[in-house]
Amino acid sequence: MWDILYTNANLATMVATGAPYGAIENGAIACEDGKIAWLGPLARLPGKPEKLSREQIDCNGMWLTPGLIDCHTHLVFGGDRAREFEMRLQGRSYEEIARAGGGIISTVRATREATAEELAESAGIRLAALTAEGVTTVEIKSGYGLDLETELKMLEVAQSIGAYERVRVQRTFLGLHALPPEFKEDRAAYVQLVADVMIPAVAAAGAADAVDAFCENIGFTTEETDYVFSAATANGLRVKLHAEQLSNQNGAALAAQHNALSADHLEYIDDAGIRAIARSGMVAVLLPGAFYFLRETMLPPIQKLRDAGVPIALATDCNPGTSPLTSPLAIMNMACTLFRMTPEEALAGFTREGARALGLQDEVGTLEVGKAADFAIWDINAPAELSYWLGAKLLQERVVAGRLA
Ligand code: NIG
Ligand code: FE
Repeated sequence: MWDILYTNANLATMVATGAPYGAIENGAIACEDGKIAWLGPLARLPGKPEKLSREQIDCNGMWLTPGLIDCHTHLVFGGDRAREFEMRLQGRSYEEIARAGGGIISTVRATREATAEELAESAGIRLAALTAEGVTTVEIKSGYGLDLETELKMLEVAQSIGAYERVRVQRTFLGLHALPPEFKEDRAAYVQLVADVMIPAVAAAGAADAVDAFCENIGFTTEETDYVFSAATANGLRVKLHAEQLSNQNGAALAAQHNALSADHLEYIDDAGIRAIARSGMVAVLLPGAFYFLRETMLPPIQKLRDAGVPIALATDCNPGTSPLTSPLAIMNMACTLFRMTPEEALAGFTREGARALGLQDEVGTLEVGKAADFAIWDINAPAELSYWLGAKLLQERVVAGRLA
């Protein structure tokens, strides 16, 4: 006997072989112990629904997709940067503002001052906006503390808001996000602190699943990133990297050497970087929200990534500086309009490939027997609508571990 059977649903399984979207029309999907126990066309159901399952839910012909996975966010932070937005509109650049002590460092000040409760409240509102668009798994980075105490505070808040909103949370320690003001005269000491003290402490506390860095002119060098990634690996943590967002630092190639899960942004990646990603099997995470918000004109090389067979994920990159938005569906639209991705690639970016970017491809991201029963049920006639409407309320239900959430 199954726990719940969802009937009368069109299933976008997002399994890569076969029909577009891996679609099974007029389907049903059964859940047992929080996992998918059966799925297929309604006509192939091996008996009467009420004989097979304790509970049945009729989806009235709606579309059911894997729950969305937002694999790159900076959801937890203090304050906002609306004032800097105004400055940028008056002609100052993101880099200029960052070099003048604004940017990430201004959010660090606000995050250090905020209590855990205040952070949970503001981040909880942002997380609720994600779940209202079908998100069931989210990655949340630290990186606005830049001291151990505040970094751990951020990671604890990430955990607690996930439990409250019923979202699976993957946590990433982003110690190399910016140089904290108190280390202004001694970069090397900060990098060493991250590698030798913070990473072991974060790992020992079980407070993160991965380590990230901002490898950039205004961030950290490849040498510094290399040093910190070695510490991550030595402490049993996977790595991922903000790479080639504003310039080409050969960060993706470095990430590949460290067997990274993903390289993220990639506007300025070159052919050698693409080859390195393709060889290593890691995921390219594209972040159209930051591209849009910074009015970037350098497009990530989508066609070359496709040609090289690189899996492409998408994410909101929700953060106060470069992507103050909480709408995966808006990002899917931007991926299509700005990057010329297809609606099917956009949905794959927020499901199958997002899971892979977090190393969770055996647990979530597609509708397959044995995976977690995490779904989004949408009031749409065709899956392309998810990338098409901007600002519409399309989500009917969110299902986490088989249960309406
Ligand atoms: O993904 N580039 C580094 N991290 C963020 C921006 C963070 C910020 O400006 O607060 C990003 O774009
Ligand atoms: Fe980011």
